[in-house]
Amino acid sequence: MTTTMNATITTGYGSADVFTFGVAKKPIPGPNEILVKIHATSVTKAHTMMRTGYPLFGRLFMGLLKPKNPISGTDFSGEIVSVGTDVKKFNIGERVFGSTDIDGGTYAEYVKVSQDGVILPIPENLSYNQATAIIDGATTAMPFLKEHAGIKKGQKILINGASGSIGTAAVQLAKYFGAEVTGVCSTSNVDMVKSLGVDNVIDYTKDNFTKGEEKYHVIFDTVGKSSFKDSKNVLTDDGIYMSPVLGMGLMFDMLKTSRSAGKKAVFAATGLRDNEAKLEDFKLLKELLENGEIISVIDRVYHLPQVAEAHRYVEKGHKKGNVVVNVTGEEND
Ligand SMILES: NC(=O)c1ccc[n+]([C@@H]2O[C@H](COP(=O)([O-])OP(=O)(O)OC[C@H]3O[C@@H](n4cnc5c(N)ncnc54)[C@H](OP(=O)(O)O)[C@@H]3O)[C@@H](O)[C@H]2O)c1
Repeated sequence: MTTTMNATITTGYGSADVFTFGVAKKPIPGPNEILVKIHATSVTKAHTMMRTGYPLFGRLFMGLLKPKNPISGTDFSGEIVSVGTDVKKFNIGERVFGSTDIDGGTYAEYVKVSQDGVILPIPENLSYNQATAIIDGATTAMPFLKEHAGIKKGQKILINGASGSIGTAAVQLAKYFGAEVTGVCSTSNVDMVKSLGVDNVIDYTKDNFTKGEEKYHVIFDTVGKSSFKDSKNVLTDDGIYMSPVLGMGLMFDMLKTSRSAGKKAVFAATGLRDNEAKLEDFKLLKELLENGEIISVIDRVYHLPQVAEAHRYVEKGHKKGNVVVNVTGEEND
C-alpha cells in the first residue's frame, strides 16, 4: 500500500504563488476516523482569504505564522476507502461529501475525517463535482437565513451578490423557506439568477437597490458591497441587514444596533460553529438536494495541479456560482 499521495502544498500565507503541486504523506485514519479518496474539492472566496492569512484573527485557528496544515481546502466529495476500528456510521465504498475543520486538508488525493464530523452520504442524483460545489455557499447561507434572520413565509428578502457562491445558495434556500426573493446581480447574471427561482431581479449596473421604493424584512449582502447605513432606508422598521463580510463599519453597526430595538446589523462567522449545528444544517441541505429543491451552480472545473490558477480566478470576485477542483481527473465525475 502506498504511503504517499499527490497534493497541492502551501508553506506560508500569501498570494496564490504559495501553492506547489507535489507529494505528501497519505493520512492514516485513527479509530474514530474515515479515510476518503477525494474526487472533488472546491475553491471559494473564503478559501482565498484563508490562504492570505487575512483577516488576522483567522490565524488563531489556522496557525499564527504559517498554516498548521500545509494542505488547505475544506470541502470534499469522494469515496470511503478505509475506516477506523470504532467507525460504525460509515462503510468502505460509500460516496460521501462534507467539510473539514478550518485547517483543511482537501487539496489532496485523500483526507481523513471524524465519523462525527460534517460528513454524509452524497444524494444519488448528484455527481461528485455537484456535491462539493454547493457545500460552502449553502452551509454559510443557511445559518444566516435560519438563525440570524429567522426567515418566515411571506417575508421580503433582498440578496445582494445573488450570482456568487453564497448568493446562488441563499436565493434558493430563501425560496424554500417561503420568502419573496429579490436577487441583485449584474446584467450577465440576470438569466442565471432568474433560473434559480427569484421573484425579482435588480441589475446593480443599472439600479441601486438602496434607492428603491420597496422595503425588505431582510437584506443579505453576501458579498459585502453595500452598507447598513445606506440600506436602512429600504429595511422595514424591525428589518435585519446581514453580511458574511466583516468590515469596521459593520462591526460598529452591529454593536450599536444590538442594544436597541428596531433595525439590526448582523455579521456571523458560520464556519466557527460547532459540528453538531453544522451537521444539522448539512442534513437539511442533503434533503433539499435529494428533492431537487436546491441545485448546485458550477462555473469552472479545474484539476488538482491547477489549484493556484483556480485561486487566481476566484479572487477576481466575478465567478458565477462555484469553482470545483476535480481531483481524479475523470470526466463527468
Ligand atoms: N462569515 C463567514 O462565515 C463566511 C463564510 C464564507 C464566505 N464568507 C465571505 O463571503 C463573501 C462572499 O463569498 P462568495 O463565495 O459567495 O463570493 P463569490 O462567489 O466570489 O462572489 C462573486 C459574485 O459576486 C458578485 N458581485 C461582485 N461585485 C458585486 C456587487 N457590487 N454587487 C453585487 N454582486 C457583486 C459577482 O458578480 P459580477 O461578476 O456580476 O459582479 C460574482 O458572481 C466573501 O468575502 C467570503 O470571504 C464569509
